Amino acid sequence: MSKFKEIKYQPIGQFEETRFEKNHNVIFNNSLIASKIVASEIADLIRDKAKNNQQCVLGLATGSSPIKVYEELVRMHREEGLSFANVVTFNLDEYWPMQPEDIQSYHYFMHDHLFNHIDILPENVHVPDGTILPQDVYQYCVDYELKIKEAGGLDFQLLGIGRTGHIGFNEPGSHFNSSTRSITLDHITREDAASSFLGIDNVPKKAITMGISTIKKAKRVVLLAWGEGKAPIVQRTIEGEISAQVPATYLQDHQNATFVLDREAASALTRIKTPWLVTSCVWTHELKKNAIFWLSEKVCKPILKLTDKDYNEYGMASLLVEEGSAYELNIKMFNELQHTITGWPGGKPNADDSNRPERATPEKKRVIIFSPHPDDDVISMGGTFDRLVEQGHEVHIAYQTSGNIAVSDDNALRYAEVSKTLAPNSDLTDTIIASILAKEPNEIDTDEVRKLKGQIRKAESLGATRYLGVPDENVHFLNLPFYETGRVKKDNLSKMDIDIMSELIASVKPHQIYAAGDLADPHGTHKVCLDAVFEALKALKTESYMKDCWVWLYRGAWFEWQPHEIDMAVPMSPDQVLKKRHAIFYHQSQKDNVMFQGNDAREFWVRAEDRNRLTAEKYRSLGMAEYAAIEAFKRYYF
Ligand code: F6R
Repeated sequence: MSKFKEIKYQPIGQFEETRFEKNHNVIFNNSLIASKIVASEIADLIRDKAKNNQQCVLGLATGSSPIKVYEELVRMHREEGLSFANVVTFNLDEYWPMQPEDIQSYHYFMHDHLFNHIDILPENVHVPDGTILPQDVYQYCVDYELKIKEAGGLDFQLLGIGRTGHIGFNEPGSHFNSSTRSITLDHITREDAASSFLGIDNVPKKAITMGISTIKKAKRVVLLAWGEGKAPIVQRTIEGEISAQVPATYLQDHQNATFVLDREAASALTRIKTPWLVTSCVWTHELKKNAIFWLSEKVCKPILKLTDKDYNEYGMASLLVEEGSAYELNIKMFNELQHTITGWPGGKPNADDSNRPERATPEKKRVIIFSPHPDDDVISMGGTFDRLVEQGHEVHIAYQTSGNIAVSDDNALRYAEVSKTLAPNSDLTDTIIASILAKEPNEIDTDEVRKLKGQIRKAESLGATRYLGVPDENVHFLNLPFYETGRVKKDNLSKMDIDIMSELIASVKPHQIYAAGDLADPHGTHKVCLDAVFEALKALKTESYMKDCWVWLYRGAWFEWQPHEIDMAVPMSPDQVLKKRHAIFYHQSQKDNVMFQGNDAREFWVRAEDRNRLTAEKYRSLGMAEYAAIEAFKRYYF
């Protein structure tokens, strides 16, 4: 049961049963809605305090999670006159050593996202100082703690959660009684920060952080978690025992803490993942599929061997009552899964398509594959891409972003030096070489260098698309403007981005669109690119040709659809797996030691093969035929 019923957040979802849960939590459809509600709670607190002539003491976090909360607070300040004149802030942490003006510093982050845009008094802002000398750190931390106390303690503490389960930078092993101190960062935390620092080697090894006891003394705590990358740690934190190994579990005995989650971050909670284990369910079709495929995995039996006893033992008796018997249900689900499999992703000409994922007509379809970065197309759906071309469809590839920041300086220098031998008198090549050689770590590239890096990715992409037989005129480099900041942090989508997307769709009039439905990209580009697809679809929805357009979502390099989510499964032979591998190899700048590795040490082609093999194994264990690999797609209805 929720501990704090009075809190105004409205839970979504039909399942109230929370008996495995030890923290109050609420789940929202998306992080934007959730962030606005959290911001409004903060704003109410500030106004209440102001009414009583009191200061409002806020503990603040950095990272990707609170960004939209800060955006909303800034909006309220601008549009609704919310004043921060009575606000005192204490940030949770700062890297050490760290200069405040560095773009990776939390000092910079807080000013960039919040303090520069509101009327807070500069003397009321406290972010731990990353420039403190080693011998002074201890006293500095004692004083930071004292300052919080003197301000009257934290009225409200905003938190994110790291994949290690850290809050602030209290890494595994932190004591429940710890106060503000210096800490050594966990390797996983440094990996997660690597993309902002352009490589793990540039990430500081230490930080100054408020302690667990500092955080727990706050009168109110709100922890934010977004995206499926956070799902496993959110589940361990909310459903596991209190343990120093997962420091966020210390919040379980805080009297006024709420975890605010989006659907993806909540997806591993028992009541969401396997609701039949905790409550009586409304058996939607989706839920039935989910439950039966889960049961089959749980009892290690293919679908057709599941018995009434298996269903009863795992909380699905009500499903049997609804469906009659295991026999009927098994056959139904077996057929359904089987009908997702097709070697004809563009539809099989002259075949009965009533049980196929795609239409038989028109025989030759126009197809656009949207690829967020120049390589997601082949990594995520290289086999299907190949089939579509071989089966005679008009395939267009649209690379949404230039992907330029992911090319290393070494790589760019090599190309610049080769160009130099061909055009020894080129001033441009000289400028490029000089600026790469003079570049400080973490410095933003010049326009020319970015252009060169973009060209490298373009040439690699053309290598792959030519290898798979796509004419160059069907390969589109959209270079969406939101991406072109030269930094990991990108701009928001603008009308310009959507117009570029819409123009391409309008000119091709596709019967099929493939897009990356991957929300777990470590630095968010896939999510923005998907939003760009959705916005363009919305804009064109009423055009007559869009009635014939089906949209298929593939997943990017990090996650795969689960069997119950799959609407189309395209099997690959061992030779096709090899062909896909070769297509991925054309993206040489993304091989070995790539800059944006994410938190998985495997190279992209290995991840892709592991993932496609795993899907094939899952299908096999559910009772389907044995394939070498399968690429999976979910249909999106707009
Ligand atoms: C940031 C902080 C960290 C982050 C956590 C999650 O001040 O203390 O605990 O909240 O690492 O980071 P994001 O939000 O980027 O996933």
